Amino acid sequence: MKNYVSASVLSADMLELGKEIKKLEDNGIDMLHFDVMDGIFVPNITFGIPVLQQVRKVTDITLDVHLMIADPLKYVKRFADSGADLISFHIESDSDTLETIKAIKECGVKPALAIKPATPAESVFEYLPYLDMVLVMTVEPGFGGQSFITETVDKIRAVRQKITELGLDVNVEVDGGINGVTSGTVREAGANVLVSGSYLFAAGNMAKAAQSLKEDMPC
Ligand code: DX5
Ligand code: ZN
Repeated sequence: MKNYVSASVLSADMLELGKEIKKLEDNGIDMLHFDVMDGIFVPNITFGIPVLQQVRKVTDITLDVHLMIADPLKYVKRFADSGADLISFHIESDSDTLETIKAIKECGVKPALAIKPATPAESVFEYLPYLDMVLVMTVEPGFGGQSFITETVDKIRAVRQKITELGLDVNVEVDGGINGVTSGTVREAGANVLVSGSYLFAAGNMAKAAQSLKEDMPC
């Protein structure tokens, strides 16, 4: 199974976003993680469609859009038209889960289902055959720079086990508090798409930091 790093632009210098994206490309980052927050589903507000359109114009990198919004179904088409390659939405949102997955697919975008730390792994099982990825939140959604919640590791493992049992090809993404230490734990549990914001952007050597997230580095 191939491992990927998705860099959360929430930790980027917004006034230098173009340069930051170039830096991600030059340092072997696989995807750009774009956190959309509406101030209703989560207690924070970030950026949305006009910013995504600008980002799409300057890069071919995979755009991994994470919708932390109350009614994702209402907006998936606009995010798809704005350049998203992958759209994650929350099972805890107000939108119907299957309808939203279908709407994302109809736009030619890969669908992913996200779960908050308190939501059981089993809640995504029935949707696995229709998904490209499951996003297991390893912090409470809303802010970058939080500490990894260890209790989520069993959920990562349970989701990966079910995917294997069903013989499916579904990625497992983790998001929140991922760094050079927690990356080994989540990979061992079965995660293969690692979102990283604060760790990656604070690293002196971004390429090396990204590599350390994807594989065990020799001491
Ligand atoms: C939190 C966001 C994350 C966040 C991760 O709600 O979904 O993507 O930016 O940031 P770090 O890596 O700093 O925990
Ligand atoms: Zn995110």
